[in-house]
Amino acid sequence: MEQYIIRGGKPLRGIVDICGAKNAALALIAASILTTEPVIISNLPDVSDINLLLDAIAQIGAVVERIDRHTVKIIGATVNSCTLNYEYISKIRASYYLLGSLLGRFHKAEVAMPGGCVIGARPIDQHIKGFEALGATVDLEDGQVKAKADELVGNHIYFDVVTVGATINVMLAAVLAEGSTIIENPAKEPHVVDLANMLNSMGAHVRGAGTDVIRIRGVKSLHATEYTVIPDQIEAGTFLFAGAATGGDVTVNNVIPKHLESITAKLEDLGCFIEEYDEAVRVVAGTRLQSTQVKTLPYPGFPTDMQPQMTVALTLAEGISTVTESIFENRFKYAGELARMGARIKIESNTAIITGVEKLKGAQVSAPDLRAGAALTIAGLAAEGCTQVGGIEFIQRGYEDFDVKLRSLGGDIRKIDPQNQNEIEKFKQKCS
Ligand code: UD1
Repeated sequence: MEQYIIRGGKPLRGIVDICGAKNAALALIAASILTTEPVIISNLPDVSDINLLLDAIAQIGAVVERIDRHTVKIIGATVNSCTLNYEYISKIRASYYLLGSLLGRFHKAEVAMPGGCVIGARPIDQHIKGFEALGATVDLEDGQVKAKADELVGNHIYFDVVTVGATINVMLAAVLAEGSTIIENPAKEPHVVDLANMLNSMGAHVRGAGTDVIRIRGVKSLHATEYTVIPDQIEAGTFLFAGAATGGDVTVNNVIPKHLESITAKLEDLGCFIEEYDEAVRVVAGTRLQSTQVKTLPYPGFPTDMQPQMTVALTLAEGISTVTESIFENRFKYAGELARMGARIKIESNTAIITGVEKLKGAQVSAPDLRAGAALTIAGLAAEGCTQVGGIEFIQRGYEDFDVKLRSLGGDIRKIDPQNQNEIEKFKQKCS
């Protein structure tokens, strides 16, 4: 497996273009098979989670035609199976969106229990509650979730927790159901709104996405559409924090600044200067980052997917900071790796207490999951000396050309084969 090798200590500077949102694109791909007509999705990020989901829908018979690196044409007319087994689906959590879309269109779906980042127990009880409310029976057999219904009928659903996945899954199942569905306490993330917009462009009747109540009036069928994925809020936030942590000046381009407000507010707390444009946001780091407190919350709160990147910045901030994780129970696994780089972090229950240090020091670390992997890479870019980041296959699940983009900002980062000791030694010599 390849690794990143990084010579840290250089402030990142420049402009970086942000890709389409991975988490939105996953939902849109699942939505595309709700119709027999062609669906063209553009601004898809070229990352492994997306490519795996495209492979999965091709495996059940959909025609998946690549128009270019970021555009795909999907024809769902030829879908001939409602069963996705473990081999195809275990690696991506969002595979469970195919439960919603297959159930919605064929009234039958069998999908292996989802994989994805291991950042907590991540139950799917709310998805099941939603499907059952629409009239489906749902069983778990041999690790497969099996859902079926004679007919799907709209209902009133109140989620006990705010969940992106269940909100999206129930939307997918309900758009073709008989009558009206009301979802209360839904997630309000930008990708929930993006899905509603795409479904509406296919002839669905979804209202209220992004608010506290989503109302869906079922329609008989959906039709063709051409749709562009929204920009990736988390990729943008990651580059902004990379700018802040390295003491740099980074502009993220092709973003919706409104979606970044909770992130830019925290960068300001850290003492950074923020400039907003119509489709870009710039961060300029202050002389030294300042300590702050943050708690992850559902949108519009501070995203859990930005928590590790925020923690890395705080390891370098003056004073004592706290980061409270309120969404997932097991999301500080990277803290031990950061400690190996000289960070002073204590984890108490779901809170990290961080005493800022002047400098991090390069070390060999391993990414435990996608966002923590990005965060450790940022730590390596900010640290003195040489850092090797293993487990970059996690990072490639959600960041397109991460190393290439960081290099374009002046980061000294290379992808290497860990067996190639010569290359590693040569790079390390540059660090000393
Ligand atoms: C999605 C994102 C992920 C992000 C997360 C929170 C995708 C593909 N992934 O994950 O990047 O970190 O939102 O913003 O979009 N829960 C239940 N029962 C359920 C479902 C969820 O208790 O049936 C709990 C979870 O354990 C968690 C919380 O609800 O504590 C939020 O989870 P959820 O929003 O569903 O996360 P995902 O959709 O898996």
